[in-house]
Formats: sequence, structure tokens, C-alpha cells
Amino acid sequence: MEATIAQDTPKHYPVLLKEIISIITPQYGGTFIDCTFGQGGYTKKILEFKDTKVIALDRDISSEIIAKRIQKKFPQRLLFKNLTFGKLNNLKIKNESIKGIVFDLGYSLNQIKDPLKGLSFSYSGKLNMRMGLNDFSASDVINKLEDNELEKIFKYFGDERQAKQISKKIINERKEKEIDTENLVRIIEETKKRKNFKIHNATKIFQSLRILVNKEISELIYGLINSAKILKKDGVLAVVTFHSLEDKIVKYFFKSLSEDKSVSRYSPKIEQSEKFFDMPIKKPIVPSNTELTENPPSRSGKLRYIIKKKNIYEIKSDILEKFDYLIKIENLGSKL
Ligand SMILES: C[S@@+](CC[C@H](N)C(=O)[O-])C[C@H]1O[C@@H](n2cnc3c(N)ncnc32)[C@H](O)[C@@H]1O
Repeated sequence: MEATIAQDTPKHYPVLLKEIISIITPQYGGTFIDCTFGQGGYTKKILEFKDTKVIALDRDISSEIIAKRIQKKFPQRLLFKNLTFGKLNNLKIKNESIKGIVFDLGYSLNQIKDPLKGLSFSYSGKLNMRMGLNDFSASDVINKLEDNELEKIFKYFGDERQAKQISKKIINERKEKEIDTENLVRIIEETKKRKNFKIHNATKIFQSLRILVNKEISELIYGLINSAKILKKDGVLAVVTFHSLEDKIVKYFFKSLSEDKSVSRYSPKIEQSEKFFDMPIKKPIVPSNTELTENPPSRSGKLRYIIKKKNIYEIKSDILEKFDYLIKIENLGSKL
């Protein structure tokens, strides 16, 4: 799993920034929502254009310090909320006409470098992975859930082939002592034996835990549904994803809103029902060679966007039913 960061340099590179700006066009002014403020890379760039306003969200309260700095530079034009984007509908923005909503999923440089957050397998200590506003930690998951539950989490959220063996080993070891980050990495290494030269052996398991702890599936689905409702006509919803599960959800949602499924290719196109969203580019936009050279971790970034064509509030999509099997796995955390 990748983030919008270069780990060995303090410089922050907002991924696909130029492309995002060319899609949401802040040069003509307007109010935008940055659902993943992070280090404020997107927000700052939008505010550099006059007559713009940004409502920024981040679940991590430590982003607020950066937001305050940006607010000083652009007084009255940035509102920061420590809120998860799944609860976007809780924002009181009735009188705002929202021109663009952006998501840059994953975690930031500051978060991965914070040993207390435990997002990286390079740090030792108690398992955590809470990005902010969470109900339980990765330590609760690993040390309390049943082996068949762990197996599902590793398999569906991490695409981990050895999910079963790893879960069994965890259950055996935790009879003796609580499993921390180092123990977990060792268990994975011992089970997987063969070294993967592309990614660290623990990457997939860590990704699956992060998804569960931060309820990333339901957050994304509700974030997308609420965004599609809030946008005004001609407004743009743009999302940068970093792994296949996220991209699958975004792609499905965008297609379900922009394609007319009711018209079969065999039936005569007498009456085509109205489309409320347009997806101008079917394939995702990926970082340019220049960006890849400057910031190699951007390589898994994929940008997709849709444009709202009508001022409607009801969204017709079967996204909740389609990904219900993933939400059910995420709900395993509710017993912790
Ligand atoms: C990759 S960073 C965003 C970087 C940002 N675009 C920039 O240029 O600085 C992702 C941010 O999204 C936040 N985040 C992740 N999931 C979230 C959620 N469900 N609700 C709100 N913020 C979330 C994380 O805390 C993190 O700060």
C-alpha cells in the first residue's frame, strides 16, 4: 500500500496535484471540499486562486495545526473540521454551492512517521493503526478476534494468500503473550518464508488491519454517496486511490452513476433515461513520468472523476448492496 509521500525525504508531494487542479478548475473561484486535508497540499493550491473557499476535513486532529497555519495566510477562506468523510452529511453547508470535492485516500507522511500510530511495520511497540476518531485498535483486532474472523480480514482486505496459516499462528502465539508489531511481523515472515522482492511480506496484512481499524470501506462508500448528493450541477467529484480495493469501489460507483444500465445493447434505444453524472474518462489518470521520478511512492495513485449534470439530491446506485460482503467483514470490529 502506498501513500502520497516520499518516506526518506521530508518534502511533501501531493499526488496528482496538477491533474486534480485541471479537473476541478479553482481558477474560476468557488467553494471546494477537501475530504482528506492531510498536510494541506491540495487545499493550499486551491486557495492560491482568488475567490476560492475550502472546507477541509481530516480524521486526524494533528492536521489542525497545519490548517491553522494556512488559515493565517488565507483569512476567512478555510474551514477545518476534525471529522471523518463518511459523515460528510453532518456538515452544515446548506447555503454553500459546492463546485468540487476531492479525496486523496491513504495516509500522510506525518502519520507514517509517527511511531505511536503504528502504521508502519518498521516501528516496534503496541499495534495501533488508528488514524483518528476510531473505536478500536489493531492490537484489539489481533489479540481478540477469532481465527476465522482474522482469516476473512486478511483475505478480503489484504488479498493475502496465506491468510489461514497466519491467523492460526497468531491464535497459537497469543495464548502465551499479547502480540505486538514485532511479533506480528515475525509471524508473517515465518509463515511466508519466501521473500517478496516487490513489497515487504507484511504489507498486505498491515493494509488489511488498517482498513478494518479505520473502517475504510464504509467510510469510502458513504463519503462517495454523500459527496454525490452535496455537489451542485457541473460540480466535480475527484478521487485518488492507492490500492485495488479502493479503486474497485470508486470505479463501480462512478460507473453506476454515469452509465445507463437500463438500456440493453439489444433493445432499441427509443427512450434513454436521463444521466445525472458524466464520467468523461473511463480509464484512471496516473502520475506522469516526471512525478514518478520526483515521488516514486505516487506510482500506485489512480485518479478518477465524475461531473454532476443535474441538481438532484437522491442518488441511485446499488453500491451498498454490491459491497455489502466487505461492510459485513468490517463490522466484525463492532464486537471489540
Ligand atoms: C494521503 S493524506 C492526504 C494528503 C493531502 N492531499 C495533502 O496533499 O496534504 C490522507 C489524509 O486523509 C485522512 N483520512 C483518511 N481517512 C479519512 C476519513 N475517513 N475521514 C477523514 N480523513 C481521513 C488521513 O488522516 C490523512 O491525513
